Amino acid sequence: MIRQYDQCFVLETAHSSYILRILPTKQLEHLYYGKKLTITSCRDIVPLIEQHAFAPGNTNIYDEEHPEYSLEDMRLEVGTIGKGDIRVPFVEIIHDDGSSTNDFLYHDAKINTTRTPINTLPYAINNQEELEITLVDEAYDVTLKLYYNVYDKYDMITRRAVLINNNKNAIRLNRLMSTQLDFSTHDFVLTTFNGSWTDEMNRHDYVVESGLHINASFTGSSSSRANPFVMLSNKHTSEDAGEVYGLNLIYSGNHYEAVEVSSYGKMRFVSGINPQNFSFLLAQGEQFESPEAVMCYSDRGFNDMSQHMHKFINDCIVRGSWQHQERPILLNSWEANYFKINEQKLIKQAKAAKKAGIELFVMDDGWFGKRDNDQSSLGDWQYDPKKLPHGLKHLVDKINEIGLDFGIWVEPEMVNVDSNLYRSHPNWTIAIPGHGQSEGRHQRILDLCNPEVVDYLTKVMSELFESANIKYVKWDMNRTFSDIYSPYLPSDKQQEVFHRYIIGLYKLLDNLTKAFPDILFEGCASGGNRFDLGMLCFMPQIWASDNTDALCRARIQKNYSYGYPLSVISNHVSSTPNHQTLRTTPLDTRYNVACFGILGYEINLADLSNEALEEITKQIAAYKVHRKTFQFGTFYRVNQVLHNWCVVNDDQKDAIGMLLQELVLPHHQYHQFIARGLKEDSHYHFFNEAKQYNVKLFGDLINTASPVHIKQDSLAHQVVAKFVKMPGEVEDIHTTGSVLMQGVGLKQAFSANGYNENVRYFQDFASRLYFIEEESEMK
Ligand code: DGJ
Repeated sequence: MIRQYDQCFVLETAHSSYILRILPTKQLEHLYYGKKLTITSCRDIVPLIEQHAFAPGNTNIYDEEHPEYSLEDMRLEVGTIGKGDIRVPFVEIIHDDGSSTNDFLYHDAKINTTRTPINTLPYAINNQEELEITLVDEAYDVTLKLYYNVYDKYDMITRRAVLINNNKNAIRLNRLMSTQLDFSTHDFVLTTFNGSWTDEMNRHDYVVESGLHINASFTGSSSSRANPFVMLSNKHTSEDAGEVYGLNLIYSGNHYEAVEVSSYGKMRFVSGINPQNFSFLLAQGEQFESPEAVMCYSDRGFNDMSQHMHKFINDCIVRGSWQHQERPILLNSWEANYFKINEQKLIKQAKAAKKAGIELFVMDDGWFGKRDNDQSSLGDWQYDPKKLPHGLKHLVDKINEIGLDFGIWVEPEMVNVDSNLYRSHPNWTIAIPGHGQSEGRHQRILDLCNPEVVDYLTKVMSELFESANIKYVKWDMNRTFSDIYSPYLPSDKQQEVFHRYIIGLYKLLDNLTKAFPDILFEGCASGGNRFDLGMLCFMPQIWASDNTDALCRARIQKNYSYGYPLSVISNHVSSTPNHQTLRTTPLDTRYNVACFGILGYEINLADLSNEALEEITKQIAAYKVHRKTFQFGTFYRVNQVLHNWCVVNDDQKDAIGMLLQELVLPHHQYHQFIARGLKEDSHYHFFNEAKQYNVKLFGDLINTASPVHIKQDSLAHQVVAKFVKMPGEVEDIHTTGSVLMQGVGLKQAFSANGYNENVRYFQDFASRLYFIEEESEMK
């Protein structure tokens, strides 16, 4: 709901309010963003207004009639340069006369019932109402439009800006943020998620104290270095209680989130396109659109904020035919084969996949050109006849005959110098002509600033997707930008390359997703180097990390869940020792982590033991039963020493929990599983699937029970292991939701003294899934 009370605007969601007003000097003053307030008239808003009587010493007074106003010490909706505000600005323009001073003053406002589209960038759908405020800098004839959209039930408000140059002289736009939040205090913790390849989403909590703190990417993508999702919370906010703002950007390029504490203890947050190496030349009549920022407020802890984000992303970011659809379980060929693929091998692996219950077979890198390593062929999207002697369509038909859908890997944005595409179009890459070029993974980036390149890629990809029954596309992007230069653009527009590339990418994705609405696209950029809301507007799921180690994944997936729903996080069970860490983890732990989200396998099923295949077959069957909950359920992180997760279906009748241990602590054996999201008064059945453990896992402890001595790892040990299994513990509890949410005391974990079926075998990296089902009657 959006209302105007005289000079004030009140934006309301189910549990939050956002209030601003027009100052007597005509700038926009930010009054409040937080827990919902009851506002019924102008009078109710008055206490939210800072009462300025005089400006602080050594600051600039805005104008003579208002000696009480120094913009340096005011909460504003738009920070500018040159009129007294010296904090990190919202907008920065260099005018024709060389000045960068701006003063954007209120001109008019309207409340729109449908949202105003963004021409160049993707945006959230299904909004309710939009506030459009026009500000004008009359001295320079520049207009700044601010758009606020309200998403009531998601507790979400979005903001963006459009700058229009009406001046006959061109201007240089050096920065246009998407949102700005000025708070009266700086009593906050800023949480960012940083990392690198195979180490995405490390959570960092920065207690805001003073100065400027920046979370930004400069890779050309939203990046694994700094995800655009950040949180502002109070020091005592926990998963279940306390205030938190979740903030993100619908953008896939260089982004920037800054928190600055002013000399007067106020705090400003801005987010938008990274202004580093960004400068747009706007001629008369031209405009620039900033990406849409999304903001969610909750006073009920991180879980509540995340759950609102999750629903918002599922309903208003992800779109198209896959929007609320359960996603298939896939087998990806990469880690099982790397580049060494061929028709025979793939068919063998696909047959094993079908037997295990897999639904989609994905042929990853290596199938095209002469792609035997990463040094050649990107750009040449024709199958390699040596690897696929009967062609792509033939392979796809064979896979379909086996009973699986077929998916394919592509990396359309890239080219190897050793490719026909590069040889015929050397000026189609991001590169400074005549200079030596730096490369990443031996490849160069195609110049998507050039519409001809976008058209070419639309055509080539369309031909590929039409050439066979392709149901899924993994869209990869494996390098960061260097030699930032578009041969297509004139020299005075080279600072536009980063952003124009993203506009070109969105155009390409728009073309293809419209032409192939039923293909399931999965985003990927060396794992999570472009995991953001912009990509999710086109691709309903993203490969979260190239790290498939279950322990690393538990952290990575959990941290994605702060800002992204399980339905977009793609996870694979891979082989052990793990290819990234050489860590050995149990097969059930690899599955137990991967099943929270979109499940896939990336392992050579044709090489696995019958025992492992049987276990995988059971995993897949179980996942199918609970798939909807795993992908679209309400997810809870529980504050615990162990990893304790819980996902609950919509009607709170079914839930699945996970407990994962990193390292065994001797004599810390009484673990609890804590459920969340159940109905307090309903009765539930809490249980696990009992397992049988290989006696060899207990090493030479076998001799404490064996009547004859058995040498560890001897033939005798193997033979005994074949016939003697150690029974796993059974949890079988009937109780109420309130008790399960208080915590279930689990069977005592093994610790030196004996083992029987009432002891939990819970070694390093062990985990359990717990199933929770509502019962109609108390048992
Ligand atoms: C990087 C991706 O993240 C991997 O999953 C795999 O597709 C490789 N690229 C293939 O080159």
